[in-house]
Amino acid sequence: MKPVEIAKDIFLVGVSDWNIRDFHGYSTYQGSTYNAYLIVDEKVTLIDTVKKEFADELIQNIRTVIDPKKIDYVISNHTEMDHSGGLPRLMHSIGEDKPIYCSKMGHKNLSMHFSKKWNYRPVEDGSELSIGKRTLSFMETRMLHWPDSMFTYVKEGNILFSSDAFGQHYAGPERFDDEAGEVIFPHAKKYFANILLLYAPLILKLIDKVTDMGLKLDMVCPDHGIIWRKDPSVIIDRYVEWSKQEPKRKALVIYDTMWHSTEKMAQKITNTLIEEGVSAKSIHLRSWHRSEIMTEVVDAGAIIVGSPTINNGLFPTVSDFLTYMKGLKPQNKIATAFGSYGWSGEAVKLITNELKAMKFDVLEPGIRIQYVPDEQKLEACAAIARDIAHKLPLQDQ
Ligand code: FEO
Repeated sequence: MKPVEIAKDIFLVGVSDWNIRDFHGYSTYQGSTYNAYLIVDEKVTLIDTVKKEFADELIQNIRTVIDPKKIDYVISNHTEMDHSGGLPRLMHSIGEDKPIYCSKMGHKNLSMHFSKKWNYRPVEDGSELSIGKRTLSFMETRMLHWPDSMFTYVKEGNILFSSDAFGQHYAGPERFDDEAGEVIFPHAKKYFANILLLYAPLILKLIDKVTDMGLKLDMVCPDHGIIWRKDPSVIIDRYVEWSKQEPKRKALVIYDTMWHSTEKMAQKITNTLIEEGVSAKSIHLRSWHRSEIMTEVVDAGAIIVGSPTINNGLFPTVSDFLTYMKGLKPQNKIATAFGSYGWSGEAVKLITNELKAMKFDVLEPGIRIQYVPDEQKLEACAAIARDIAHKLPLQDQ
């Protein structure tokens, strides 16, 4: 990625990871970027670094703007190694004694990631650092995305460096929202759904806090993807909407199948939901990546999960997805289970237990059909689909 001056004397010096396709279990089918920002002021300041394997490229990028040795301060907004992995190489280049400003938890966490005893300067929530013409303000944002996370705000220019928040796993030629256009929002939603959804209540509190503070935002610079400069309130509003998880008249029928019997049930449920005016999608777990499904889950009002019984348990893809979804703590869903079985038929009960553990409004006992369903047996699938359709809100929110 060629460095870009995003505001006077503030440069995007991060890198594009064009070919990453799996980011710890998240399908990054358009790659990602690790954004780092260089502020050339009386004290030259670098905000965040990049993944370890891109550290040389980061230093090259910095060098096109300024001699890296002239960096006075490093700000670490987040310890996760896609943003801190380049620190050893960077510190070696700029001088191991240069101060690293981070949250108190960042200090603790960085110390557990790297053995070097760097010159850490832990900062408090709300504390400020003058770098010359500009003042940086630090805001703790615990759990967005790790306990150490913080934002850095530059009053002069109203620029927020937001770490993981408002990011997208997207590598493209564009650097800004006005260049990317509407196509960036599905990437932002997918990022939210798979990285931040479980912290939705904290996001709403943080946005309330920022609103109460009257923080003006002319530019929001995340550590992944494009920068929001056209109207940053648009992505903030989307975060509020996604965090609230108000259910839409939308249902997901998520299943796997062995001999197409559970699939026949899935088709009957999906078709009936559509007949009832529900925006329903049929999702075969071996055709969809779990992270794509989670993006759909955010605003779905109903989650209907089907599995055949195999070896007295769930089909492995169904277990995988339920575990993943449970960890991300989606809220406000109606749910039920279905599945074909041969002789023991535990799958529906096992799914039901998982859906209840997620605090969904579960319709019990779900639908179990032995071996191959005929039209008469499939009527039970149609009936539960109609029941769900009646419980869903009448119109999209
Ligand atoms: Fe992009 Fe939580 O790291």
